[in-house]
Amino acid sequence: MHFHFSVNVTYINKNGKAIKVRGKVGDNVLYLAHRHEIEMEGACEASLACTTCHCYVLNDYFDKLPDPEEKEDDLLDMAPFLKENSRLGCQIILSKDLEGITLQLPKATRNFYVDGHTPKPH
Ligand code: FES
Repeated sequence: MHFHFSVNVTYINKNGKAIKVRGKVGDNVLYLAHRHEIEMEGACEASLACTTCHCYVLNDYFDKLPDPEEKEDDLLDMAPFLKENSRLGCQIILSKDLEGITLQLPKATRNFYVDGHTPKPH
């Protein structure tokens, strides 16, 4: 892995524990989380049909992200514990600008996509 293409990402899990991982430009933060066994669920496999990948984007990284598509916005409206800095993790793709991004998982997510379906890590 080339240093220039790596992006440091911190996830804060439901218990408030910070987990630092290294991703790379172009990584989807949902799948990056899965690779590190972080509990970002992602029941619909990034097809914008659930909200189980809901997370909060901390500090000023929220403003560095491209604006959400209308569909993401609509879904977020249904997410429990919605905040100003809520986004769907499966729509966040790492870029160099996001070096150091911190994502916090909400206390709970609701899966209205498929009841009881928990995808396996990739
Ligand atoms: Fe379902 Fe992101 S994984 S909307």
